Amino acid sequence: MQWEVLQKQLRGIINPMQSADIRRKYIGYFQKQGHTEIPSAPIVPLNDPTTLFTSSGMQPLVPYLLGQKHPAGTRLVDSQKSFRSQDIDEVGDNRHTTFFEMLGNWSLGDYFKKEQLTWIFGFLVTELKLDPKRLYVSVFEGNDSVPKDTESIGIWKTLFEGVGIKAEVGARIFTYPAKKNWWSRSGEPEKMPPGEPGGPDSEVFFDFGAELGLHEKSAYKHDVCHPNCDCGRFMEIANSVFMQYQKMPDGTLKELSQKNVDFGGGLERMCAAVADNPDVFRTDLFAPIMTLLETFSGMEYGKNPKETQAMRVIADHLKAAAFMINEGLFPGNKQQGYVLRRLIRRAVVKMHQLGGNGSKSELGMSVYRQVGVIYNGVYFDAESPEFLDKGQILKEEITRFEKVLNVGLVQLGKHETITGTVAFDLLQSYGFPWELTYELALEKGQEVDREEFQKEFRKHQELSRTAAAGMFKGGLADHSEATTNLHTAHHLLLASLQKLVDPSIKQRGSNITAERLRIDVSFARKFTPEELTNVTEYVNAAIGKNLPVTRVEMPKEHAEKIGAQMEFGTKYPDRVSVYFVGLREGTNPEAVTRDDYFSAEFCGGPHVSFTGALGHFTILKEEASSAGVRRIYAKLT
Ligand code: SER
Repeated sequence: MQWEVLQKQLRGIINPMQSADIRRKYIGYFQKQGHTEIPSAPIVPLNDPTTLFTSSGMQPLVPYLLGQKHPAGTRLVDSQKSFRSQDIDEVGDNRHTTFFEMLGNWSLGDYFKKEQLTWIFGFLVTELKLDPKRLYVSVFEGNDSVPKDTESIGIWKTLFEGVGIKAEVGARIFTYPAKKNWWSRSGEPEKMPPGEPGGPDSEVFFDFGAELGLHEKSAYKHDVCHPNCDCGRFMEIANSVFMQYQKMPDGTLKELSQKNVDFGGGLERMCAAVADNPDVFRTDLFAPIMTLLETFSGMEYGKNPKETQAMRVIADHLKAAAFMINEGLFPGNKQQGYVLRRLIRRAVVKMHQLGGNGSKSELGMSVYRQVGVIYNGVYFDAESPEFLDKGQILKEEITRFEKVLNVGLVQLGKHETITGTVAFDLLQSYGFPWELTYELALEKGQEVDREEFQKEFRKHQELSRTAAAGMFKGGLADHSEATTNLHTAHHLLLASLQKLVDPSIKQRGSNITAERLRIDVSFARKFTPEELTNVTEYVNAAIGKNLPVTRVEMPKEHAEKIGAQMEFGTKYPDRVSVYFVGLREGTNPEAVTRDDYFSAEFCGGPHVSFTGALGHFTILKEEASSAGVRRIYAKLT
């Protein structure tokens, strides 16, 4: 169907304002409570070697939760683009997506539980007009080191009483252990790496109706359905984290110097609650894509489980792909590029399952354009040549994989039984997403050696987990104090080399572990021992001055203009995060000059708040790396 015709048709059936309204209301509501709106960080973090994607609103704010001063103050609000690849296998039900927008507000050592719970309840009830009788809440039940959150229980009781609802623990307010009511990027306290902040949280669930809780017993500890049950009756729509702890190297939790609030609520889910429809794919953030897929396949969305699941996967994955491509990513075999490729391939396999005669790459392009329309003016300029050009990247990748898929399907058809080994071969030779080979085989009526398949599948999962440690979790591979310290020292070292040896030196690569840092720089000859001694002293002097480390977001051109360092060959988005060391107090970041800071780099962090934390800096060795590039190793003691 022609693009223009489809757009006209959609205008009649979709209310395009719901999500935009909710986004605007949320930001406005918290602005009225003294919050400053900050822009969404990119989903592909800037120059941050420790994590692949931004998976929550708090991720770009970690340094500020740990105590560094944020230039916009102590009350912040935003809508953050987020991607969680660990949810990839969950996509297909009514509420899981890999890409979502997280509405977030933060108190950086400012207000705490009473204000947060009162405001969020007020927002849900008075702004979104959700019926409070359909809201249920959870709080942390306590463990050996952190007490039960009785304060939040008391606040919730009062808030519900205020709207005429008697709220009892076990009826409206539920307590859960850390598995459910503790939040950090790595999960429960035991899983947090040293340095990581976290804390107990309090969630709000929307009840879509008892008829959805169609099971006798939930998988959890209660006999009947309850807010955290996964049956689909309840949907978590709001999460207030009381981020007041930090994991220590000895495994204990230490109170942070400031008590923070980190709030996150999925925009898609809030839209679903407002519409009183538990399917996020029916909100205006997805519905036009579903209509498009219906047109392509001739199938009705929501009628049969298999087609419905396929449509959800295609819509979610291609939306995520559209965002990644617009942040400069290309499908590839490594890191973020690999995740992008996997999303596209999974979507193509689902298109195949969905059937339909049209071209898959044309369909992909239409979904891409529809994503542009949904977020037009918010994240994309849907009709701009730049946006449309980038869609070609998706189209080409689909065309490439479609060819391979057809050959692979013929190969698959040659086997009567699909053993784990056959499936693995298909993955290796044709890039068949592993888990989908199984589905394709069953569909064709082929026998599947389930046990062996599962065994191979687990082995493969284990392998990719090891290969991408910390990456698919959206958490940090290593966010330890030692690595963070060395990361900041790395910035000091580059600035010192430029200052004392040659201002034209550029970074060509880096690698930081907990033991040492390694930097590659453009420089034609060996550094002399004197140069290395001077640089070492200069870095140690900067450490001695206890300079502040500050993160500022700004347009890329501005960052370039003020001399912020970037890594050669790296693609950066239009808005970048710049880490300054020693930014002169009171300097307006918009008007900064080279004399106003010790170092400035395009970077995603993490960093220490003050250089005094680093200790003593020593250069271990200096050697040739490749033509015109020198490599320096250094450590901190
Ligand atoms: N960090 C919490 C979450 O992602 C709240 O923002 O749910």
